[in-house]
Amino acid sequence: MIKKNDGYRVAVVGATGAVGEVMLDILAERKFPVSEVAALASSRSVGKEVSFGRKSLVVDDLETFDFKGWDIALFSAGGSISAKHAPRAAAAGCVVIDNTSHFRMDPNCPLIVPEVNGELIDNFEQGIIANPNCSTIQMLLAIAPIHRAAGVTRINVATYQSVSGAGKSAMEELGRQAADRFNFRDPEPKVLSHPIAFNVIPAIDVFEDNGYTREEMKMHRETRRILDTDAIAVNATAVRVPVFIGHGEAVHLETRDPIEVAAVADLLRNAPGVRMLDGSDLATPMTDAAGEDAVSICRLRRDLSHPQGLSFWVVADNVRKGAALNAVQIAERLIS
Ligand code: A2P
Repeated sequence: MIKKNDGYRVAVVGATGAVGEVMLDILAERKFPVSEVAALASSRSVGKEVSFGRKSLVVDDLETFDFKGWDIALFSAGGSISAKHAPRAAAAGCVVIDNTSHFRMDPNCPLIVPEVNGELIDNFEQGIIANPNCSTIQMLLAIAPIHRAAGVTRINVATYQSVSGAGKSAMEELGRQAADRFNFRDPEPKVLSHPIAFNVIPAIDVFEDNGYTREEMKMHRETRRILDTDAIAVNATAVRVPVFIGHGEAVHLETRDPIEVAAVADLLRNAPGVRMLDGSDLATPMTDAAGEDAVSICRLRRDLSHPQGLSFWVVADNVRKGAALNAVQIAERLIS
């Protein structure tokens, strides 16, 4: 916990990016008690302006920024940038909340979803806290309450991930390719591996030796770390879809103990950060995720293929709860 009465000095690294911009918005929206905010990015952006509530901030160069005297830094500029600059910020006494995957498996860096394992940072005073992968966060908001009640043993999940997960340039690519299609031009992929407009891409990030992609293995490894168990395996297929903001996931799980579907619905209805839809009400990324803080769950049902299996669909704003909001909630818990 860090405590100050006169507000905190907060730096946002990657302030010109898809997540960094929303980090600034959320700090302002939630009235995080700041005394000063620094917007940091690459030297390319120095002098540009970004919004912080009604104010604008002039972007500074991360490379030459001195973190001494700064309380909290939210990093979202890519893994290699965090690898280089987050330890430097932490050594200067600033608590780093890192949105990249770089420190997520480091035993010295807690991996936190505040609603699930926030208590792990209640005595945290110095160092780096890792923000989990966007797909893991939204899945675990739904799965943690079920796991506590009946022990989840196995998860099968197919993700439907929006292009904002690959940054602003991927969002621009989707827009450009959609226009290309309407003008009878062949879309040219530059950021993503294949055309994304009117298409889906059945792999996200590079392949590991076991045939899964790194994104899929993040869901497996991070789930085990956050739920503090090696007894769960996550069999994920991560798919990029032509949606700007909001990830969907079709989740199928099995529990160790029997539990009724109605009891699971009750658990989820009362779970923090969750909006549970009943019957045939549907949650879609565009209508129920983008711009929303809550993770929405619908289509909860018994898996016909397994007596202790459950299936559901979950959507969330990957830029907010999957990244920026989760990071700000971690910061809020640190100062609470
Ligand atoms: P910049 O705009 O100066 O390149 P996104 O995930 O939307 O692509 O955003 C990436 C963010 O990370 C941007 O704010 C970008 O700043 C920042 N970034 C990229 N490379 C660097 C770097 N070398 N040093 C600092 N920030 C960087």
